[in-house]
Amino acid sequence: MTLSRFNVRTDSKVYPVIIGQDIIDRIGDLIDGSIGRGFIVTDNVISEIYLDSLIQGLKSSGIETVTKVLQAGESFKTLESVKVLYDFLANELASRSDTLIAFGGGVIGDIAGFVASTFKRGMNLVHVPTTLLAQVDSAVGGKTGVNLSEGKNLVGTFYQPNAVIADVCTLKSLPLDDFVAGLAEVIKYGVIMDHEFFQFLIDNKDEILLRNPELISAIVERALRNKAQIVEEDEREEKGRREILNFGHTVGHAIEICSNHTILHGQAVAIGMVEEARIAVRMGKLDSSILETLIYSLSLFGLSTKIPSGIDVSQLSVIMKQDKKVRNGQLTIPILVGLGKTRMMVVDSVNNLNLVRRNGDDKQC
Ligand code: NAD
Ligand code: GLY
Repeated sequence: MTLSRFNVRTDSKVYPVIIGQDIIDRIGDLIDGSIGRGFIVTDNVISEIYLDSLIQGLKSSGIETVTKVLQAGESFKTLESVKVLYDFLANELASRSDTLIAFGGGVIGDIAGFVASTFKRGMNLVHVPTTLLAQVDSAVGGKTGVNLSEGKNLVGTFYQPNAVIADVCTLKSLPLDDFVAGLAEVIKYGVIMDHEFFQFLIDNKDEILLRNPELISAIVERALRNKAQIVEEDEREEKGRREILNFGHTVGHAIEICSNHTILHGQAVAIGMVEEARIAVRMGKLDSSILETLIYSLSLFGLSTKIPSGIDVSQLSVIMKQDKKVRNGQLTIPILVGLGKTRMMVVDSVNNLNLVRRNGDDKQC
């Protein structure tokens, strides 16, 4: 069993990140110490494919489990799902020394993380991410939360897990669109802070798209080491450092909502990165050749780089006003100042972002 392992050292918790191949059915061996009972939270897609292996992997180490299966999809990232999980935990008499195991993509991770952080004022949490996006981003760093109809992730907490265990072989069954959407977050690390990684991704494009497990393991590890470095410096996004991870997300979140979540998070972030890089060019902070490189690189991996024509651009500004980064009507976002270099800057009033509408498909707002 080939494993990579490193610790994330935050002020609130130090925890291991373990990345490997075919490790789900041996997962109990990888969890240190006693975790009590395992309360698995997953969705109806993942449960069909991998749930038996996970349960077996825990059972073989003597860990008793109970499972709750939620409906898959962003539209279920709601307070209603949170309530379903509270009821489940309460009915099963879960205690603080038991462990909630978030088994799925970013949606399951965000809901389960929120529940773990609030049920009985906090129970143990282990993330077992199964999408590329969750493996390279959402499982590490402690952001949890759910959406309200008024906006994405408007309710949430910071709550670090006790461990993150990523089996890259689960990515084999991930639909192509979800895999490619996850690549947007991978490319993001290259763009905002790791120029060498950016070049590595371009150079290995074909093998990445073939999901070569050795290469994917290496990419997940590099992405997460980048993320861990930022989270260790600024766990709660208070020091102006962690916000750079939100590059592309201000516009991206608005696109997700405007499309009624028919555009995947990572895909929306790809378009958002292009639009936010365009803002940097307009501000005179970024050379337009880098914007072109970004567009070319995202397209290489099959990511769309244009706001779909059916999205009402004025509606995007309305949605962005709800963004957590707006203060007194002004928006402070990560501005790309070079490949691998980002600074936080006030850009403008959210009413005046001049987002570019492009012809594309016909998603409606
Ligand atoms: P997702 O969780 O909806 O998963 C995408 C789809 O893939 C789902 O239908 C799921 O059932 C299916 N799936 C998952 N694993 C699979 C597998 N191995 N094989 C086959 N199908 C599989 O989407 P996502 O892209 O993982 O996550 C998006 C969410 O993550 C958004 O809500 C976003 O806000 C959140 N997010 C959170 C953070 C954070 O720091 N907390 C960071 C980035 C994104
Ligand atoms: N995905 C952005 C963050 O974790 O801060």
